Amino acid sequence: MKIKNIKVCAFDAYGTCFDINSAAQNLAKDIGDDWLEFSTTWRTVQLEYTWLRSLIKKHVDFWKVTEDSLDFAIENHKIDKKFRSKLLELYKKLNPYPELVDCLHKLKEKKIKTCILSNGSPSLLNELTSHAGVKKLFDDLISIEEAGIYKPHPKVYELVTKKYNCKPSEVCFMSSNTWDVVGGGVFGYQSVWVDRFGKTFDKLDYQPDFIIKNLSELAEYL
Ligand code: 2OP
Repeated sequence: MKIKNIKVCAFDAYGTCFDINSAAQNLAKDIGDDWLEFSTTWRTVQLEYTWLRSLIKKHVDFWKVTEDSLDFAIENHKIDKKFRSKLLELYKKLNPYPELVDCLHKLKEKKIKTCILSNGSPSLLNELTSHAGVKKLFDDLISIEEAGIYKPHPKVYELVTKKYNCKPSEVCFMSSNTWDVVGGGVFGYQSVWVDRFGKTFDKLDYQPDFIIKNLSELAEYL
């Protein structure tokens, strides 16, 4: 089965193109054996804060949410505060997944437009993609800051259809975050779940038609 009539491939950033655990992994020796649990707490609380801030209408940008969730994780896991600034510096320069560049080149060969659609602020996305050397491989970096509310609000997914003047069904959207795949799919995207971690999919009235293990499998569907 192919993904048809696509005008643009939109990619979630954190967890899909970039390895969110690579910040804590860089300091694994300092943080200790539970560095992955610590990183998971950081990420889980970061997302919870985006959803809660959208609901209580108290928006702050993704960097503030990332700092606040890091402070929670540091306190919760009793990590030495001296690692805070290094962890934040590393979060601005997360490792791209190894197959990202090749995936983007293949889409370029197929003359398909590509963009990032992320909770990240414009400056974060600029720094993240520049440091990873992939900024020029995306036609656009779209931040939820343009909508003033976090994923999975439909106003976020609408940013792409407005930018490219296309229908939701003409957007192929990749995310490893199941709730984000649902958000895009419910909005009308052809959502692809990048099931990197063998997770269970959410029970939220939407099932993706396409599931790939990583981005190297995407081009064969287009
Ligand atoms: C992103 O928007 C969901 O945090 C993830 O990049």
